[in-house]
Amino acid sequence: MILVTGGAGFIGSNFVLDWLAQSNEPVVNLDKLTYAGNRRNLASLDGDARHVFVQGDIGDSALVARLLAEYRPRAVINFAAESHVDRSIHGADDFIQTNVVGTFHLLEAVRAHWGHLPAAERASFRFLHVSTDEVYGSLAPDAPAFTEDHVYEPNSPYSASKAASDHLVRAWHHTHGLPVLTTNCSNNYGPYHFPEKLIPLMIVNALAGKPLPVYGDGQQVRDWLYVGDHCSAIRRVLEAGRVGETYNVGGWNEQPNLAIVHTICRLLDELRPSAEGSYARLVTHVKDRPGHDRRYAIDARKIERELGWRPAETFETGIRKTVQWYLDHADWVAEVQSGSYRDWVQTQYGAAA
Ligand code: NAD
Ligand code: TYD
Repeated sequence: MILVTGGAGFIGSNFVLDWLAQSNEPVVNLDKLTYAGNRRNLASLDGDARHVFVQGDIGDSALVARLLAEYRPRAVINFAAESHVDRSIHGADDFIQTNVVGTFHLLEAVRAHWGHLPAAERASFRFLHVSTDEVYGSLAPDAPAFTEDHVYEPNSPYSASKAASDHLVRAWHHTHGLPVLTTNCSNNYGPYHFPEKLIPLMIVNALAGKPLPVYGDGQQVRDWLYVGDHCSAIRRVLEAGRVGETYNVGGWNEQPNLAIVHTICRLLDELRPSAEGSYARLVTHVKDRPGHDRRYAIDARKIERELGWRPAETFETGIRKTVQWYLDHADWVAEVQSGSYRDWVQTQYGAAA
């Protein structure tokens, strides 16, 4: 059995679905169900005894202790977090509470449990912490991509809170011997991605004939990885990663935001042409994000060299699948949009929404 936290969010739900598609090892899924957590993502597992869903907070030590004692997972995979940079700029409280304080309480509960395991179970136990490349800060256009040794220079409240959690995980290994693994991944995209993030927001806005809000000049660069590839990397690190190590995970696919938006428009023009002409007509430059990191890039050679992992999807195949998924799941989008997503769009984009 494994314990997954945040398994009703974007990456966590993809991970749980992929895991149970490939193995019969059961999953306990602890998720608080914030605005970003959606049970509907896991609807295909309804009635499946291999999936135990528990609504709760990673910061609830008593609950986590109870789950660890009852299910005795061989590993904890920590996806639970507040994850959206723009929200962290509007208010960082939840980011500090979950990403920093919550991770601390989770580590303490896991440490107490792990410390009392029989020797063999203690030796094979793993705590895998899922983190981001944003902890490394922003790169100059010609600087080499982030390696695992890059200095931590987080610039947003989100990335600072994730950096803090990475440091806690590191310290719990160094000081207490907890067998941890950390992954620092670049921007993901794919099914079940909440439409507040760049790629799903552009798809759903375009289909609704709404403006496509590009921050500033749109020349900020991100590395994009298909979510299924992130899930396979996590499985591989869990299986064979060296305890105490961090692994950078990326798609070898750096692109400026504006190029991403135009690719989405081109795919939609092909797959769902609009009578009003190319979706590119909707591209609208809006005020830049404060403190906006200019470039992220991942050097993913360590995970390839040590663990033989490389992404299976190219950006071309992954983005086509993703656009098609959103076209095929208008019901999922409608349900998500009828919730707090709408309030958020109003706060962030005002009349432009
Ligand atoms: P998400 O916002 O879609 O999902 C987060 C999930 O965590 C939600 O289901 C939410 O309900 C749950 N959650 C939040 N606070 C919780 C708490 N206190 N207790 C229990 N559950 C809680 O995020 P995501 O995009 O799926 O990201 C998952 C993880 O991967 C995060 O740690 C994030 O920092 C990291 N990450 C994300 C990306 C990306 O591109 N999305 C890239 C690299 C790393
Ligand atoms: P986002 O998906 O929020 O991920 P992150 O900030 O964690 O990288 O944003 C990806 C990039 O797209 C980032 O440079 C900000 C930009 N962006 C826009 O230009 N417009 C938008 O409406 C959003 C949400 C993001």
